[in-house]
Amino acid sequence: MRLRFLMAVLALLMAVVCSYAQTNEKTAQYVGSESCKGCHAETYAGWKQTRMARVVQDPKEHPEAVKAFLADYVDGLAWFYDPANREKAIQLVSDFTKSSKDVLNSYFATGRDYYRDPNACVSAQTIQKPLDAMFEEKLIDRRIDVSKYLNVGLLPRPCAL
Ligand code: HEC
Repeated sequence: MRLRFLMAVLALLMAVVCSYAQTNEKTAQYVGSESCKGCHAETYAGWKQTRMARVVQDPKEHPEAVKAFLADYVDGLAWFYDPANREKAIQLVSDFTKSSKDVLNSYFATGRDYYRDPNACVSAQTIQKPLDAMFEEKLIDRRIDVSKYLNVGLLPRPCAL
């Protein structure tokens, strides 16, 4: 199983490298895994059963996957902020980040931490500012219009922004 998974990853990497080498960067485009099916039916059928195959699904075609992920995130957030779970939450974050529990306890998920909206709402304006600053500092090579990419409709509850 693991070998098959590694082979699938290798195949994808090779496909990316090959298509990159063969085509001009400006004209290259994503062909999708469907395009391999015709000639590699057996490999495709095996790969399609793996979790990796789900990773490369287009979120526009499968918004339910993104919605489910965000719903889990919002549920998780509520759990972390619930005072009843404080001790467990600090332990979990400490295990994961290797930060001391005392230090975490002094700020994590309190008023001293950064703000996390309970429904994970974000405004385009908030994200736009640092991106504009990055462009002005030449850290990125073009302006990015966040409003074109932001879709808060995928969140479990409507945003009042
Ligand atoms: C038009 C037919 C065709 C399409 C479409 C196609 N391939 Fe292939 N592919 C081949 C042929 C022919 C070979 C060479 C097979 C051989 O030498 O045994 C090959 C070889 C490969 C190999 C090397 C396999 C090995 O064992 O060395 C990989 C990896 C691969 N293809 C991945 C892909 C991926 C990923 C896609 C889709 C993005 C794709 N191919 C689309 C025909 C195709």
